[in-house]
Amino acid sequence: MCGIVGYIGTADAKEILLRGLEKLEYRGYDSAGIAIANERGVHVYKEKGRIAALRDVVDTSEESVVGIGHTRWATHGPPSQVNAHPHQSATSRYTIVHNGVIENYEQLRREFLPHVNMVSETDTEIIVQLVDSFAKDGLTTEQAFRKTLSQLQGSYATALIDNQDQETIYVGKNKSPLLIGLADGVNVVASDAMAMLQVTNEFVEIEDKEIVIVTREQAQIKKLNGDEVDRGSYIAELDSTDIEKGTYPHFMLKEIDEQPFVMRNIISKYKADDESIKLDEDVRQAVTQADRIYIIAAGTSYHAGLVGKEMIEKIAGIPVETHIASEFLYNMPLLSDNPLFIFISQSGETADLRGVLVNVRQMAHPSLTITNVPGSTLSREADYTLHTHAGPEIAVASTKAYTAQMAVFAILAVDAAQARGVEIDFNPLQELAIVANAMEIFTEKKDLMEEAAQEYLSVSRNAFFIGRSIDYYVCMEGALKLKEISYIQAEGFAGGELKHGTIALIEEGTPVIGLATQKDVNLNIRGNMKEVVARGANPCFISMEGMEEEDDAIVIPKIHPYLTPLVSVLPMQLISYYAALHRGCDVDKPRNLAKSVTVE
Ligand code: G6P
Repeated sequence: MCGIVGYIGTADAKEILLRGLEKLEYRGYDSAGIAIANERGVHVYKEKGRIAALRDVVDTSEESVVGIGHTRWATHGPPSQVNAHPHQSATSRYTIVHNGVIENYEQLRREFLPHVNMVSETDTEIIVQLVDSFAKDGLTTEQAFRKTLSQLQGSYATALIDNQDQETIYVGKNKSPLLIGLADGVNVVASDAMAMLQVTNEFVEIEDKEIVIVTREQAQIKKLNGDEVDRGSYIAELDSTDIEKGTYPHFMLKEIDEQPFVMRNIISKYKADDESIKLDEDVRQAVTQADRIYIIAAGTSYHAGLVGKEMIEKIAGIPVETHIASEFLYNMPLLSDNPLFIFISQSGETADLRGVLVNVRQMAHPSLTITNVPGSTLSREADYTLHTHAGPEIAVASTKAYTAQMAVFAILAVDAAQARGVEIDFNPLQELAIVANAMEIFTEKKDLMEEAAQEYLSVSRNAFFIGRSIDYYVCMEGALKLKEISYIQAEGFAGGELKHGTIALIEEGTPVIGLATQKDVNLNIRGNMKEVVARGANPCFISMEGMEEEDDAIVIPKIHPYLTPLVSVLPMQLISYYAALHRGCDVDKPRNLAKSVTVE
């Protein structure tokens, strides 16, 4: 989703801004722009489409040491050059970039700007016009900026430059992520630390309803009423090589391949010296004291949450409900007396989850975030955090973060079971090592996966994934992967449910991917496959060693029944990847999608 960069220093701002925006490309966007300031004024360059298109329109002869940049994921008004950021006020004095959604922008426009002609269809333009109008009334830029932000309802991360004072970037934030990066004589602004690792790895967090006055020498944080805030910096533990593709053609393929390493990393992070599970006592208590756990998530993380529910209920015996965050936010079920909320999010920034977390905190219920980004908003604002240790995930379609989330759920479930005195014969740390080896087999079998993609998905408009119990949840994820990146209409179904309606869609050649890793439903799902084959489906059956039959297309190695999703999803990830590749799709940056969804 939208990304912001800003730079004030001594080097060529435009190149740093463009490189920063390239690092934010993974978040998903449809237009981009930069503004740079020099003695000839503020120069705005923006373009619909990719950063490469923006590079073509930037005037390389304009030198500047200060500027702001933006990648836009359209909300108000379609993707276009006019709606792309930065936006300028009518007098061109102020230039702004903004992420988020201003809910009361129509009202503000009527109240404060009835005579101002808006150039774009965006809510953002209101902000910059308001600052200009308040400055015309005699306020300083800082006062006008604070007054403007105080009027806004909704979410924003924003950076503003003033043509009359090119020594300052004004930054503000509410609900949308934004960081300030510090270096010697240089300061930067970024939605994501990765964008500015090229300049520094020292960052300061901004809290909601704060502004930051960023100059070369300092970054002064204030509340909207002008009170100063003192906050220390932290070092982002990110290696810039983690965010390079290396020899891989796509981040998605690299991240699929990294899964065995991620499993081993998780084992090492969660293993104590005596080989037992290492987990904070606070987290253990929060889990074991809950009479019911509510897992809140979106997209792929929701699918991991469904598997997490199975693990916690079956292993630890604690009732669990898994909910889609955006639904839970406005349609909350009756809660138990002592609930624990688990927010599961790769990015830790998803706005739908944050909305729920804000409510949960108001109700004073305990919260735990399981995330791949420990300093993220959901991590900072929940009572406890567990890290998935998957390393930066850049491809929009989530792969290694999904399997990492399920691995952490397995560890959490067993830890809770042990703390509750439940007898279990399942050591997740040992079993995850077996998972890592099994994953490696698939990462080495790419040719077979490519052939399967050709055989089943080369011409089809649609595809179905069917499974039962825990396999059903993996089918939902397999279908999501396929549709996200190949645009083939794909659905994951509970095998037994197909005949209650969806089987009507099966025709000659329709690909149906069946999954069976659970003994108790093996025969049932095979029966469901027979039903679709009898109606012309092209079947691709994935089973597990010990349960395989002669015609099964793919057989995964034998895995502990709780952990089969971590391996059975790999062929689905790879088949989706190759199906998308053969259709000429932009695998890492699928259309319309964003990696980090910071609007509701
Ligand atoms: C977006 C992404 C999905 C992701 C979902 C939840 O929709 O495109 O890949 O699963 O957000 O993201 P989160 O960061 O909260 O796991």
